[in-house]
Amino acid sequence: MIKEEMISEITVEKIKELNKVALDARSSSYVPYSRFAVGAALLSSDGSITKGINIENAAFTPGTCAERTAIYSAIANGKKDFLAISICGGEKGKEPNDYCPPCGVCRQVIREFADKNKFLIILCKTVDDYKIYTLEELLPLSFGPESMQE
Ligand code: THU
Repeated sequence: MIKEEMISEITVEKIKELNKVALDARSSSYVPYSRFAVGAALLSSDGSITKGINIENAAFTPGTCAERTAIYSAIANGKKDFLAISICGGEKGKEPNDYCPPCGVCRQVIREFADKNKFLIILCKTVDDYKIYTLEELLPLSFGPESMQE
């Protein structure tokens, strides 16, 4: 499926709803070390939205990104078919002043659970200011579950 067709599968209203959930979620982020608050909103095929935030830790390495929090929370709640994720990040307590692309680990985790031909990654600064990428654009030539099949 080409990118324009993928984007047309989701309404602009739904994209803006996702952006709002991601932006609102940032206030719950636990980021005493970086002060960089990230929010995510994951859209499942049933229309439900699962939010995620980054959660840091004094030992640093146990810290988790907002995208993975959203994906693992959705899976724990029985969701498994995902269509899109909206992501935003910036200094805690302030509006984002730039787009916040997902880290490499989160791209790989998205790859595990997303349909490469359907899934969209939305980067937003405000509800109305966003850019849309396909998973293939952000993680080309990726290794996924079907790569291990003979
Ligand atoms: N972070 C995310 O939550 N998602 C990303 O994709 C990039 C980075 C978090 C991790 C850490 O808590 C903070 O942003 C600074 O790296």
